[in-house]
Amino acid sequence: MKCRVCNNEISSFMSFGKMPIANGFIKKKDLKKEYFYNLETCFCDNCKVFQIKKQPDPKKMFHGNYPFFSSLSKGMVKHFNSLSAKIKKNFLKKSDSFIIELGCNDGIFLKNFKDYKHLGIEPSRNVAREASKNGVKTISEFFSYKLSNKILKKNGNADLIYSANVMCHIPNINDVAKGISNLLKYRGVLIFEDPYLGDVIDKTSFDQIYDEHVFLFSALSVKNIFSKFNLNLFKVERLQTHGGSMRYYLRKEKKIKNYYNVNKIIISERKRKLHLMQTYIQFKKNCENFKKNFKNFLLQNKSKNINVIGYGATSKSTTILNYCNINKDLISQIFDITKLKQNKLSPGTHIPINNFDYNLNTKKDYYVLFAWNHKKEILNKELKNKKFRGKWYIPFPYNK
Ligand code: TYD
Ligand code: ZN
Repeated sequence: MKCRVCNNEISSFMSFGKMPIANGFIKKKDLKKEYFYNLETCFCDNCKVFQIKKQPDPKKMFHGNYPFFSSLSKGMVKHFNSLSAKIKKNFLKKSDSFIIELGCNDGIFLKNFKDYKHLGIEPSRNVAREASKNGVKTISEFFSYKLSNKILKKNGNADLIYSANVMCHIPNINDVAKGISNLLKYRGVLIFEDPYLGDVIDKTSFDQIYDEHVFLFSALSVKNIFSKFNLNLFKVERLQTHGGSMRYYLRKEKKIKNYYNVNKIIISERKRKLHLMQTYIQFKKNCENFKKNFKNFLLQNKSKNINVIGYGATSKSTTILNYCNINKDLISQIFDITKLKQNKLSPGTHIPINNFDYNLNTKKDYYVLFAWNHKKEILNKELKNKKFRGKWYIPFPYNK
C-alpha cells in the first residue's frame, strides 16, 4: 500500500484482527448486517506518519446516527470553554474575525463564538443538527479543497481554523491541508489537537487505534504533512485529554519566530525513537502482553464468579474487546450514559450496553474503566455516589 501523505510504499507491522465499526453499536435484529474489516497499522519510514492500513468508507462511520456527543463530558465542556477564552484573547482581537471549526460536533466549542463570524462543518447530520440547535451556524458536509472554495466565495478568508479530534480522522489529509491553506488569511492561524502518538506508545494505549483514527500524529509528522501546504508548525501544547493529546499551532506567515518548544518536542520525539520502526515492533509486543494479562484477569474473575462490568462504551473499547476476543461471558455488560448506545450491543463482541444501574451491584464487582481518559471526572463522581460499590480496573497506562 502507499502512504496517504507521501505516496511511499509502506506495509503493516501489526494486525489487530477482524474489527467492526468502533462506534457501530448495534441492535440484535441488525447483527446479520454487521460490517467487519481488518485493522492493521503501518508506519511510514519516509514522512514518519503512523496510519492504519485500510479505513472503512467514511460514510459508514459518520452519518445520521453518529452516537458521539462531545457535550456529555463535563470535563470536555470545561476544556473547550477555557480554550475559547484563550483564543479570543490571543488570536481573535477584532470583532469581525472569522472562525471556522472542522468537525464541530454538537457545537461544544463554537457556541462560545456566537458573537463572532463563525462556521461549523460537521458531516454527521444528527450531530450537526444539535450544533444548529445550540445556535451554531453549521453545514453538514465533509471538508475538502472543493468545499474550501465554496466557503471562500460565500464567506471570505478565515482568521482562525480549529479542529479537535478530527484531523486524525481524515484520510485525504493532503486535500484537507490544501483546503485549509486556501481558506486561511496570510496572518491566519490553524490550531488543532489530537491524541498524541507519544502517549499511545508510552502507555501501550492501543485502544486509540480504530477505524476513525486513520492517523496518530507526532509533532514531527504534523510538521512534515502541513509544511508542504505552506502551513508551518510554530507552537505545540501537551494536553491531558483523550489519554494524552497534543495541540498544534500552524500559520503561513514565516517571519515570526517559532516557539522554542517545537524544536524541543521534536528532539524529544527523536530521543524516544518515534521516528524509527523498531519502536513500533516493540509496541506490538507490548500490545500482545496487555492482551494476555487482561484476558487472564477476566478469566480469573470468571472462575471466582466475580461480575465484571464495563464503564463507558467508548469507541476505544471496540478495539480492546475485539482484539482480546472478549464477549459477555467475561464482561457481563457495559454501562454508558449515551441514550443512542443504550439497549444496543457492543460492536463485534455483542456485550449489552445499558444505562447505569447500581441496584444489583456488590462490593466484589469489578468495573473496567473503558473511558479511562475521563478517569478524574468519573472516579470523583463515583466517590460521591453512595450506590457505587465495587473495584476499578484501569486498563491504561499499561506498564509492561
Ligand atoms: P470518550 O472516551 O470520550 O470517547 P471515545 O468514544 O472517543 O473513545 O467516550 C466516553 C464514553 O463514556 C461516552 O460514551 C460517554 C461515556 N461516559 C459515561 O458513561 N459516564 C461519564 O461520566 C462520562 C464522562 C462518559
Ligand atoms: Zn509517508
